[in-house]
Amino acid sequence: MHSNFTKMYRSHNCGELNAAHINTEVTLAGWVQKSRDKGFMVWVDLRDRYGITQLIFDENRTDKAVFELAKTLGREFVIQVKGTVIERESKNPNMQTGDIEILVSELSVLNSAITPPFTIEDETDGGEDIRMKYRYLDIRRNPVKNSLLFRHKVAMEVRNFLSNQGFCEVETPYLIKSTPEGARDFIVPSRMSPGQFYALPQSPQTFKQLLMVGGMDKYFQIVKCFRDEDLRADRQPEFTQIDCEMAFVEQEDILNIFESLTRHLLKEIKGIEVDKFPRMTYEHAMKTYGNDKPDIRFGMEFGELNAVAQHKDFGVFNSSELVVGIAVPGGAAYTRKEIDALIDWVKRPQVGVSGMVYCKLEADGSLKSSVDKFYDQEDLKKWAEVTGAKQGDIIFVLSGPAHKTRTQLSALRMEVATRLGLRKPDEFAPLWVVDFPLLEFDEESGRYHAMHHPFTSPKPEDLHLITTDPGNIRANAYDMVLNGNEIGGGSIRIHDKDLQARMFELLGFSAEEAENQFGFLMNAFQYGAPPHGGLAFGLDRLVAILGGQETIRDFIAFPKNNSGRDVMIDAPSVIDNKQLDELAIKLNQ
Ligand code: AMO
Repeated sequence: MHSNFTKMYRSHNCGELNAAHINTEVTLAGWVQKSRDKGFMVWVDLRDRYGITQLIFDENRTDKAVFELAKTLGREFVIQVKGTVIERESKNPNMQTGDIEILVSELSVLNSAITPPFTIEDETDGGEDIRMKYRYLDIRRNPVKNSLLFRHKVAMEVRNFLSNQGFCEVETPYLIKSTPEGARDFIVPSRMSPGQFYALPQSPQTFKQLLMVGGMDKYFQIVKCFRDEDLRADRQPEFTQIDCEMAFVEQEDILNIFESLTRHLLKEIKGIEVDKFPRMTYEHAMKTYGNDKPDIRFGMEFGELNAVAQHKDFGVFNSSELVVGIAVPGGAAYTRKEIDALIDWVKRPQVGVSGMVYCKLEADGSLKSSVDKFYDQEDLKKWAEVTGAKQGDIIFVLSGPAHKTRTQLSALRMEVATRLGLRKPDEFAPLWVVDFPLLEFDEESGRYHAMHHPFTSPKPEDLHLITTDPGNIRANAYDMVLNGNEIGGGSIRIHDKDLQARMFELLGFSAEEAENQFGFLMNAFQYGAPPHGGLAFGLDRLVAILGGQETIRDFIAFPKNNSGRDVMIDAPSVIDNKQLDELAIKLNQ
């Protein structure tokens, strides 16, 4: 249906008119947010992407036909109006357009609408599932719309910054061969090569390295990546990376440039100036926070208590590889009930602790622990020293196998911080975690896996461990961490064919498998591969955290649900037999 009174759909948008426009003739178009019919007067809130403008239809001042038509408008009708900007009698200081309203002279219904399945307001009555199914309606709501606008702003800042630094955005293919990045690939059958498959890229890793061999020097790409892995709040099966690579660089160059990008974003987007990012080794992060992506907005650093808590009569600690604790500020005030609730929380299977010891530092200077039977005041004072606990704090202590116990205490640390309101969304504490191990031993398969990916270069000074102690080789690999989230990661790459072949061997590839899967890369390395390295940020995560949230789904226009489904278009779905035949695929049913 076309407007019957003007060629131009709108002269202004619904968020821009104010007192300066009074007496101006305007044309607006948008959606009916709501309408109030008082009999002799009809008010309509007209909404578009930019805001809401109040329209008024007055029995005495509005043409009769227009007035009658106004009475028929329902929620979410798409309309166009022409009218005069007038001063509002009762002004609304909370609205951009709150000083004015439009006295409508002409009205055209561009499209009617059936009743939406949930109210399209900031606070909606629609549950997650229904909003996902009607995502296009959800996008009309301010919180979702603003998240998308915010994402755009971040992406534009990134593009401009990198382009100004001489980076060139190059598109790499989506139909490729597997890149081993740790997750499963999404597979695409090939009609022209029956029985053969493409894989969707988990990242453009090998292509960006080939671009370096191609002399592109400084590459970036804001690019979709696909990983068939279990979903969490910070994971989607298709997500977006800010993928970067540079030639003739060392780790220091990469850290500097991407630190300045992040600093630029924090300044431009959040108006926050941050100092030089701290750098922490992986080993230090694991020992101090039990986590390779520590949230350093708050303290509660780990104190290892083996030396002071073992060799007493408490068998549980004596038989543990690690006894480790944290001091929770103000925790001495916890009631028995609050402590029990935390103990229950760590005992849940997701954390899996069998028990937790605590010690309060009371206001009178005394220490009161749940294991007073085994430890006297002098012993407990040492616990306080090691964990940095002060009067009024509580020390929580876990024990068991080192790695597992650290992970569990890290979960507790984060939970306690959340409960204490220490994870402030408007505070930003970025850092680099460096010196990751090159390899990680996988108990299940009984062999080493690349901790980052197989193209990551070992630290030259650790190379001699390759035959004797490969598990202790450190890599030139780094992660950028922001508020307890890994927002980016990368490495200096291997650019020597022989070392790359050695690496594949270490990872359990036969020479033939390595040749089959990565022959193209090793081949390229023979034609003059420059030293190179890079990293990739997770754009969805970066945007969510800058936006003060951790669920990336809210910042993706059309996200998948927790089972990896798009419930709006109903995908994945079955395909018909004809398509299957063309692809030479037989279903096993
Ligand atoms: P990595 O696998 O560490 O490195 O990924 C880089 C960043 O991408 C984000 N990310 C995700 N975001 C949302 N959903 C997911 N499923 C998901 N998986 C990862 C994270 C992560 O830090 N090719 C290397 C980079 C390099 O070495 O240059 C790579 O992909 O924020």
